[in-house]
Amino acid sequence: MTVTALIVAAGSGQRLGGALPKQFRPIGGKPMLRHAVEALIGHPRIDAVRVVIGEGQEGLASAALDGLDVGEPIVGGQMRSDSVRNGLKTVGDGIILVHDAARPFCPPAVIDRLLDALDGNDGVVPALPIADTLATGDRLLNGTVDRERMLRVQTPQAFHVEDLLYAYSEMTMRAPTDESSVMVEAGLKVATVEGDPLLDKLTTTADWDRAEAMLAARLIARTGMGFDVHAFAGEGPMMLGGIAIPHDRGLAGHSDADVVLHAITDAILGAAALGDIGDHFPPSDPRWKGAASDQFLSFAAQLVRDRGGLIDHVDVTVICEAPKVGPYRAAIADRVAAILAVPVSSVSIKATTTERLGFTGRGEGIAAQALATIRMEIVP
Ligand code: CTP
Ligand code: MG
Repeated sequence: MTVTALIVAAGSGQRLGGALPKQFRPIGGKPMLRHAVEALIGHPRIDAVRVVIGEGQEGLASAALDGLDVGEPIVGGQMRSDSVRNGLKTVGDGIILVHDAARPFCPPAVIDRLLDALDGNDGVVPALPIADTLATGDRLLNGTVDRERMLRVQTPQAFHVEDLLYAYSEMTMRAPTDESSVMVEAGLKVATVEGDPLLDKLTTTADWDRAEAMLAARLIARTGMGFDVHAFAGEGPMMLGGIAIPHDRGLAGHSDADVVLHAITDAILGAAALGDIGDHFPPSDPRWKGAASDQFLSFAAQLVRDRGGLIDHVDVTVICEAPKVGPYRAAIADRVAAILAVPVSSVSIKATTTERLGFTGRGEGIAAQALATIRMEIVP
């Protein structure tokens, strides 16, 4: 029987707040919706994944789901149940797994438990016991509820499509928060299997911060080194660390010859073990002639972020007799921090001479060394 996963992502994330509806907000470098889809799309027992989004969210959705085979997103409705019903209309017979985009981390074993238990039941949901004391009341307590008879019900929830359609056609509840409520109200038999704390919904800022920290804990620190040299040529100003510095001489290079940004780019690529600047921006390619080097650096930073990585720190040494770098250190640090989208406290810019020794000492060019510290998941 065909198994379709329907992921509802048409909410507005009021309780979390923020500029973007939470399903599109990056967590661990990826939109939450993308995590949710990726967790289901790879499961061998799931044939298709469909996504329900809000009206006008097509652009956000196509960016978040780039390259994932989920078909055209379905437009949802005012309430979660409207979104699910709109999605249901597009799904044929078979089994449906209804899932919240707000639960981005679905362990594959939960899917197996749900599908295994569907035989002999009208529906199956993942559920967990309650650890806290449960009470009724508001600012004053009215009484305690026996938690032994209570469960926390999660998604994905598994049903036969025709049963869920029937349950919704009988629904009298105004705003059900899941499908099991609708199924039980319609007198259908919904069983539970063991849920997973990883499936807890991200609703508040505290939930979000905890999930972000959990993802960050999977990352390990890595260091990369970058080194670059450009010879003086022609007239100044020169680009150094993304800013134009007045000097009687300029620097020679295929791009804008920003030796500092090149060294940092290589340090970040090195930390990520993703090649070097020449691999990504070959000097033989006319596109990079005279190119501003901030795009090389932001590209490298994006490669790290696309892999869920974090850039923790960059330390640079500029080596030359002239120009004097000291007066520009703060401006360079600001610019590098802006390109990398990190706080300026994560960027260190230093300069030294070589006591008139060697090519930098003779004033033939400028060298730069950089160290980048990043965190990335170990890819087996
Ligand atoms: N959802 C939906 N359509 C709606 C409302 C909610 O598809 N009209 C989805 C959300 O996108 C989310 C899931 O239902 O994936 C669970 O809802 P919830 O956590 O309440 O998300 P929001 O409604 O977006 O958040 P809030 O209630 O805080 O506004
Ligand atoms: Mg809601």
